[in-house]
Formats: sequence, structure tokens, C-alpha cells
Amino acid sequence: MKHQNKNYQIALDGPAGSGKSTIAKLLARKLGFTYVDSGAMYRATTLYLIENNLLDKSDKMISSHLKKIKINLKERKQCQIVILNNKDVTREIRTSIINRNVSNVSSKKEIREEMVKRQKKIGENGSIVMDGRDIGTAVFPNADLKIYLTASVYIRAIRRKKDLKDLSEKVSIKELIKQIQRRDDIDSSREISPLSKSQDSIVIDSSNLTIKEVLEQIVSFMPSQ
Ligand code: DC
Repeated sequence: MKHQNKNYQIALDGPAGSGKSTIAKLLARKLGFTYVDSGAMYRATTLYLIENNLLDKSDKMISSHLKKIKINLKERKQCQIVILNNKDVTREIRTSIINRNVSNVSSKKEIREEMVKRQKKIGENGSIVMDGRDIGTAVFPNADLKIYLTASVYIRAIRRKKDLKDLSEKVSIKELIKQIQRRDDIDSSREISPLSKSQDSIVIDSSNLTIKEVLEQIVSFMPSQ
């Protein structure tokens, strides 16, 4: 789908478990756009820092490693595959150890600046749906369509439990609610590009909507062809 012969940018932001990635992926597929899950880049960076014992090191030390963190996002069988320094880490970056550490990693100034730079560059290559926390505010402030997708904490915990079940990890709903609230707090209170609704974004609460209904709502906000 082409829109006014230019790269059409859709920014999809929202808290963890709001359904962003599922929606963004399906939306991109429906429209024939590239899909980018920006959170995967912060997750891959977290994995790199853990594997190289850098998690507790100084910001300066971490910064000096940024260029060595090569992240490639590829599409395979309509899924996003995440390659970290030539290794497929698609599943590994979804595990609990990454969930627990990624908010702290993604609140670091140098890491954010580097990732936002990389994300802007990906956006130069064609029409795109990118999901994250700061896409409408920092990555594509001039996006053609900005959606802020949200859902109740309880519904988000139930969704996360299903994701973890697919990875054969057992975590209780109570614990997941705690983890999600903790991540929301860190994501929304960090100094740089906190999770926040931009003035010009359309808010959709997905708690009581099916995936199909969310998609229909989003498409209805796009200019008709
Ligand atoms: O969407 P997710 O749960 O995979 O995101 C993982 C973490 O990365 C989350 O704690 C917030 C952070 N993140 C961010 O700060 N900015 C983005 N654009 C995307 C994710």
C-alpha cells in the first residue's frame, strides 16, 4: 500500500503487554509495510551486556561497547528474527532474566541515543510500522499516524503469562503484575524519552477488544486510498 508516494510511518507506543507487537506485526503484514519491534533492540542489548558481564559497569564502559553490538532485524515466515552479532537470539531475548533487566538498560542515555539513531535510519528505507515506547515522541515525531495502545495491568499480566508459557517458563500472575508495574514505573519515570502519550496520538484501550477490532480501529484512522 502506498500513501502519497512517500514513506508512511506508523508509530505504535504503549506499556509492556498492551498487545503492541502483535498488533504492529499484523498491521504491517496487512499494509505490506516493514515491521520493527524496537523493544527487541533494547532486549538484544541487555542480552549482550549480561553475556559480557557489563550490566553493572559504568555508563562510560558500556558506551565504549555500543559499536560492538550489531543487531539485525530480519523477517522470516512473517516473524521478526533478531540477530545479535550473527547469532539468532529471537527466543532468548524474551526470557525472564531479560524481562527483569531490560528497563534499567533501556533507561541509559547513551543506549537510548544509539538505538534511536539506528531506528531512525531503518525508517528511511520505506513505509514502516514501529512499536515501542518513544516512537511517536523521539524516533518518528512526524509519523503519519501515532497510536498509543494500552490495557489494564491484569489483562497485560495474563498476556505475558501466555508468552512465557510458550517459552516453558512458569511465573504466577501475581508476580507478573508486580513485574509489569515495576517496568511501567521505570519506563514512565526515566529521564530520557519516558513512556508517555504524545499529544497527537490516538489512544486505544485493548483490554476488551479482540485483535481484529484493534486492527480495524487503526486502519480506520488511515487516509483511504
Ligand atoms: O516492548 P518490550 O517489552 O519488548 O520492551 C522491552 C523494554 O525496552 C521495556 O522495558 C521498555 C524498553 N523500550 C524502550 O524504552 N523504548 C522502546 N522504543 C522500546 C522498548
